[in-house]
Amino acid sequence: MAGLNCSLIMGSVEAALTLLDDLSTKDKRACIELLIRIFRNVVSHPDDSKYRTLKITNKTFNGDVWQHEAGRMVMKAAGWVTIGDTVQLPSHVNLTLELQVILANREVKPDEREWRNETKIIVPNAAKQREEELRRKALAEKEKEMAILRKEMAERKEIAERIRAEHRRDQETKRVKSAAKAVPRGKGETSKMTDLLPKSGGG
Ligand SMILES: *[C@@H]1O[C@H](CO)[C@@H](O)[C@H](O)[C@H]1NC(C)=O
Ligand SMILES: *[C@@H]1O[C@H](CO)[C@@H](O)[C@H](O)[C@H]1NC(C)=O
Ligand SMILES: *[C@@H]1O[C@H](CO)[C@@H](O)[C@H](O)[C@H]1NC(C)=O
Repeated sequence: MAGLNCSLIMGSVEAALTLLDDLSTKDKRACIELLIRIFRNVVSHPDDSKYRTLKITNKTFNGDVWQHEAGRMVMKAAGWVTIGDTVQLPSHVNLTLELQVILANREVKPDEREWRNETKIIVPNAAKQREEELRRKALAEKEKEMAILRKEMAERKEIAERIRAEHRRDQETKRVKSAAKAVPRGKGETSKMTDLLPKSGGG
């Protein structure tokens, strides 16, 4: 008997929940979330009558749940009854199963229209993209300049090296010449290595 009761309750609550599909996803989400809050309050405080009486004049309750036929159907299927301008749940009714059914149907995906509006931040910022492109271009340009500069510096270094080498050779030649002048060779005499070196200290 309890099993039959359970499946009937679950079946009717579940059937009523399918009516929520006629609402926009935003309204459906708001309705389901408030139903969960209301049902959870009863499950968490089963002996507190405060949570078993809701005022239809309450703007949040009426706007999110009661004004929608689907919202009223879910509540009636779960055992809520209308008394005057209130909706009440008899003290013996236990909403544990109903809450589980609603929670199982909680997943509400936004439709494509809403998805586009809600995710417009993803659309790339054209100005920012252009700025980034310019920055990359400037960096590439700078790198090219640096490469040219490095090549020039290497070339300059090479030239400097060559100039120094030539200068050393010139000096060498000059010394040899002046040494030859300063120390004339006698006939048949071969010059000694020391003769070729510059005389230091005017000796
Ligand atoms: C109206 O209903 C909401 C949702 O059930 C509740 O949070 C709020 O306290 C209620 N407001 C009043 C004034 O009862
Ligand atoms: C409500 O029902 C569930 C499952 O039927 C049970 O486990 C739970 O103990 C009940 N809670 C109360 C307060 O009766
Ligand atoms: C999304 O934006 C379009 C216009 O860009 C608008 O027509 C549509 O109503 C909006 N949808 C929502 C749910 O705000």
